[in-house]
Amino acid sequence: MKIWDKVDRYIAEMLVRPDEALEVALAASDAAGLPRISVSPAHGKLLWILARLVNARRILEVGTLGGYSAIWLARALPAGGRLITLEVLERHAAVARTNLNRAGLDDKVEIIVGPALATLPSLEGPFDFTFIDADKQNNAEYFAWALKLSRPGALIVVDNVVRDGAVADSRSRDAAVVGVRRLNELIAAEPRVSATAVQTGGVKGYDGFAVALVNL
Ligand code: SAH
Ligand code: DHB
Ligand code: MG
Repeated sequence: MKIWDKVDRYIAEMLVRPDEALEVALAASDAAGLPRISVSPAHGKLLWILARLVNARRILEVGTLGGYSAIWLARALPAGGRLITLEVLERHAAVARTNLNRAGLDDKVEIIVGPALATLPSLEGPFDFTFIDADKQNNAEYFAWALKLSRPGALIVVDNVVRDGAVADSRSRDAAVVGVRRLNELIAAEPRVSATAVQTGGVKGYDGFAVALVNL
């Protein structure tokens, strides 16, 4: 086990309360054969904190998988708040639907099945918080849509922007790495946001989040 894996587990044991709905959601995702690529418990809680910080009432997620991060995000919503989460595979959305239902959150969450680029033009903003975590080659397009659909002061978070450090390699031909680098170029040239990225070590390896605050 890598040292950051141990530390991420330690952080979760210390600071993230055991939670049946989240544990059952992961077990059900495993049982359905979904890939084990949800955010870690410690990082899920970070998403929850960030959504709370911006008083998110409307949240957009791109990439639902089994609904693990969706549970964290939906729990950050006040009464009457809404999470719209986009997923291309019905097989994943079906697992997420069951997990969100079991977590008592289905009245707050709408899962829209289809390629996110086909769904995004039909969405109505504004959103207070967006979490982008789907196919990495479309990161820049997702970010452009998130920005278009954001209110001033909204937060946009993008997962997996470090990829074991490969993001620093300008010669990489890996589609995901190229996607993240294209995202960073877009963000760097975008005057409407203030952005940075943080590297993370965790149970999902060495990776990171980009965080962009939409200017007031
Ligand atoms: N946010 C989840 C993990 C998402 S994994 C969590 O932390 O719990 C990435 C998901 O994006 C997968 O379920 C994959 O099927 C989905 N995805 C891939 N390409 C997509 C696309 N074009 N549109 C929407 N979803 C897509
Ligand atoms: C992968 C995708 C993710 O969203 C993630 O958090 C980790 C890995 C992947 O496609 O490898
Ligand atoms: Mg991810």
